[in-house]
Amino acid sequence: ASKFRIAPSILSADFARLGDEVRDVVAAGADLIHFDVMDNHYVPNLTVGPLVCEALKPHCAVPLDVHLMVKPVDRIIPDFAKAGAAIISFHPEASEHVDRTLGLIRDQGCKAGLVFNPATPLGYLDHVMNKVDLILIMSVNPGFGGQSFIASALDKIREARRRIDASGRDIWLEVDGGVKADNIGAIAKAGADTFVAGSAVFGAKDRAEALRKMRAELAN
Ligand code: DX5
Ligand code: ZN
Repeated sequence: ASKFRIAPSILSADFARLGDEVRDVVAAGADLIHFDVMDNHYVPNLTVGPLVCEALKPHCAVPLDVHLMVKPVDRIIPDFAKAGAAIISFHPEASEHVDRTLGLIRDQGCKAGLVFNPATPLGYLDHVMNKVDLILIMSVNPGFGGQSFIASALDKIREARRRIDASGRDIWLEVDGGVKADNIGAIAKAGADTFVAGSAVFGAKDRAEALRKMRAELAN
């Protein structure tokens, strides 16, 4: 088994046929399904919530990786845990009490992730490294699929990798935004192990082929 995981984002799926879309990319080899939750308040877009997550769950044979772009965040966490989320990640700016929110996610039996926008410093990790199961580095500003990868994210991924290795803990390092077959190799070399890809997977004519291409780049 590869140490790398690819997580297609539902944001670029056909929302009218979401269950089939998810079955399709899981059959094509997705390791996780990335579920983007936007509230038109923390980010300038609006997607779906726990009801859709729960409806999707029986169609999703891999873990659901829920990315919360909502503020406030605490109140909605138990709803997503009940809806079947395996991982719940949030942005520190969207929580008044980052330590408490991480605890809340773990108390619900989920892996807890902290998400870093392009301008958000990794210093938020300083005192909570032992409460984090996943670090998500945004390589675009959150809100929309199909944006281009911001190159400065690579240095940040390297720094996050150093922090994870220094902690000695098994923390996943995920990257979200503009990930494609032509940059996934460099992103992996910087230290990432988990890759969100929305438009690159759902936008491809042949999704299995798109996933194969990405995996081939990871194998190099
Ligand atoms: C952006 C979302 C991403 C998005 C990625 O705010 O968090 O998950 O769907 O889409 P692509 O891979 O198209 O950049
Ligand atoms: Zn996302």
